[in-house]
Amino acid sequence: MDKYEEITKNTSSQFLNNNPKYPDDRVVAHVIRFLRSSTTKVCNFKAIDIGCGAGRHIKLLNDLGFDAYGIDYAENVEDVVIQEFPSINKNNIFHGDYRNYNFSIKFDLIISWGVVFQCRKSEIYSNLSKLEDLLVENGQLILNFRSKNNWFYGLGEKIEEDTFLIDERGKEYLNYIYCFLEKNEIDEIVHKCKFKIVDCEKTQLIQEAHLPNPKTHEWWIYRLEK
Ligand SMILES: C[S@@+](CC[C@H](N)C(=O)[O-])C[C@H]1O[C@@H](n2cnc3c(N)ncnc32)[C@H](O)[C@@H]1O
Repeated sequence: MDKYEEITKNTSSQFLNNNPKYPDDRVVAHVIRFLRSSTTKVCNFKAIDIGCGAGRHIKLLNDLGFDAYGIDYAENVEDVVIQEFPSINKNNIFHGDYRNYNFSIKFDLIISWGVVFQCRKSEIYSNLSKLEDLLVENGQLILNFRSKNNWFYGLGEKIEEDTFLIDERGKEYLNYIYCFLEKNEIDEIVHKCKFKIVDCEKTQLIQEAHLPNPKTHEWWIYRLEK
C-alpha cells in the first residue's frame, strides 16, 4: 500500500461512522434482479459486501435471507457494523484489504459499492480480477464506478491518468484517492476479466440544484456474471 492509499485508508477509518445507514436503491434493485434470475433457493446463497463501511448492505443481504459477509480495511469495522446492526453475525465481518485477504470461501453474489475506484486507474483490472476469483461459477458482481462527469473530478494532486488525491476543494472527499472512468474503459477491463455484462446503467445526482453552482455526481453501475 503506497502513501496515497494509506491516506485514503486512514480517512475511511476516521469517517466510517458517517457512512449511510440505509441501502442504496440501485443496490436493492440489482440484488432483487439477481434473485429473480436465479433458480437456487436464497437460503443456500453466500454473499459478501466488499468495502462494507458501516454495514448497510450486509444488513440488506441478511434481511433477504443470504448468508451475508462483509470486509473493510477501516479500523474497528467489526465494532461499527455490530453497533449499528446488532443482528449481523460479528464472525462474518472481516477486517482487511480485500485485494490480499485470504478468503476461505467463494460467493454467489458480491456487492462492491463505492469501493473499487478508490485506487489508481492502473489497479482497476487487478481489483476486478480478485473479485472474479472470489465468485463461484455463474456468480454475480454488483458494483459502481465514478464517471468523469463528477463535480470533484481533477480537484487534487494528479497521481495517474484520471486518478487524484482529492484536496480541500473536494470538501467531504478530502484525502480520498479517486479514479474516474468512462463506459468504454470499464467495458474493456470487464471483458479482459472475462465477465459477462448482465446489466449496465448510468445514474446521476444533481446536488444543491437550488443554488447557483449545483454539484453533479455520476456513476456507471454494472451487474456482471462470472
Ligand atoms: C465510499 S465507502 C462505501 C461503503 C459501503 N460500500 C456503502 O455503500 O455504504 C468505501 C469503503 O470501502 C472501503 N475500502 C476501500 N478500499 C478498500 C480495500 N482495498 N479493502 C477493504 N476495504 C476498502 C473503505 O474503508 C470504505 O469503508
